[in-house]
Amino acid sequence: MSKTFVFLLALASLAVTTPVAPEDIQATVPIVSTFNFIDGKDLIQRDRARIHQLRSVGQQKKSAGGQNTPAYNQAVVHSALVGVGSPPTPYSLIIDTGSSNTWVGAEKAYNRTRTSKPTGSKVGVSYGSGSFDGDQFLDLVTISYKLTIPDQSIGVANKSKGFNGFDGILGIGPVGLTRGTLQPNRSEFVPTVTDNLFKSKKINYNSVAVSFVPTIGLDEEGQASGELTWGGVDYTKVEGKITYTPITRTFPADRYWGIDQKLTYGKSVPIMQSSAGIVDTGTTLTYIASDAFARYKNATGSEYDEDTGLLAIPCAKFGSLNNLHFYINGQKFELSPDAQAWPRIFNEAIGGTNDKVYLVIADIGDVTGTGLDFINGMGFLQRFYTVYDTQKRRVGISRTPHTFRKVNVPGGRC
Ligand SMILES: *[C@@H]1O[C@H](CO)[C@@H](O)[C@H](O)[C@H]1NC(C)=O
Ligand SMILES: *[C@@H]1O[C@H](CO)[C@@H](O)[C@H](O)[C@H]1NC(C)=O
Ligand SMILES: *[C@@H]1O[C@H](CO)[C@@H](O)[C@H](O)[C@H]1NC(C)=O
Ligand SMILES: *[C@@H]1O[C@H](CO)[C@@H](O)[C@H](O)[C@H]1NC(C)=O
Repeated sequence: MSKTFVFLLALASLAVTTPVAPEDIQATVPIVSTFNFIDGKDLIQRDRARIHQLRSVGQQKKSAGGQNTPAYNQAVVHSALVGVGSPPTPYSLIIDTGSSNTWVGAEKAYNRTRTSKPTGSKVGVSYGSGSFDGDQFLDLVTISYKLTIPDQSIGVANKSKGFNGFDGILGIGPVGLTRGTLQPNRSEFVPTVTDNLFKSKKINYNSVAVSFVPTIGLDEEGQASGELTWGGVDYTKVEGKITYTPITRTFPADRYWGIDQKLTYGKSVPIMQSSAGIVDTGTTLTYIASDAFARYKNATGSEYDEDTGLLAIPCAKFGSLNNLHFYINGQKFELSPDAQAWPRIFNEAIGGTNDKVYLVIADIGDVTGTGLDFINGMGFLQRFYTVYDTQKRRVGISRTPHTFRKVNVPGGRC
């Protein structure tokens, strides 16, 4: 049984956002989260399908559909409204740090207006469980009042599959991932929306930052679940300083927003030695290499739960859980016990029960050493602010006012 929970999206939330610098007003846009749970095992399967695609980058022959990039039918999907054309037609696009082509036409048909210019190239990306093929156009793209891009290259799908309920993708990954997606010239790159905003001086720094808040429940309707900020940082969403770390040198994580990190449980129980992995908005849980996962399972005293496919502990043991520490470029980021818990309001939605706490740390399926040994997915991104900095080839991470917030207090039912 599939339940779809749609959290709101309020363009009105623009009004309550106070970005850093006055020139960055309107450089921030709200993110909508859509929940599409079936059960926990299915959730892990979808994440794993995506991880499989993420790993396959650069390792396959050029096929008709362009290179493979990850799957999109995840349990939690983040999207934003983007206008294309003049006057702009709004499209609901999935925000993806793991791919870099922007395209429309999956659900709502492309509406050609006077700003629409066909380039004569074909474009296609195959996403494993989904794909699109179509034609490349240059068109006016409107992200917000301030962020308009004339002649942005967009894909217009003739054919697509795997994007139920969404019109396409807003690709905010590194531009290198667009290579091989055009025909006939497969050597060409497709400048990303972020690159073009910078080139056209709409932003004066080539970066995009992402803010999310922890999932609490459906009563959050009416507020955006996050925001994207181009060209700067919304310091109202940041606590303390931002730690920047260079893009990892390890393949294939280096093709994405890849970083090196080390994990310990509490202060001293080693979980994972310094390894390469990625930060990814398109992965629901946080995945670590199998050997690290075994140590985490042992250290937390948790058990594999047959019903959900996740690690679980009885409610009564929740209080003895410790922080999971992420060491990134020398800085420690704590994933608190509360942040390691799957949102309790959705226990039943993934096939679980209320007398257990399910953990959002999962097994990536291979031991350390693959070059993609972890994915800091939503469980992580809901607690830390992240900056995707193309200009200096680095990723910024900071705490937020929600890093230590308790939203999963078991309460009376435990
Ligand atoms: C397409 O754009 C025109 C303006 O050029 C507008 O009048 C029309 O409503 C749009 N169609 C859709 C389906 O959005
Ligand atoms: C998409 O459809 C148009 C119009 O039918 C056609 O001209 C074009 O060749 C198609 N593109 C692809 C990639 O199939
Ligand atoms: C293909 O694209 C590459 C990179 O932009 C360019 O250097 C090359 O000249 C192009 N080839 C053709 C035949 O247009
Ligand atoms: C499991 O954890 C215990 C302490 O909780 C520790 O003594 C033991 O070495 C751990 N085993 C492994 C294989 O990590």
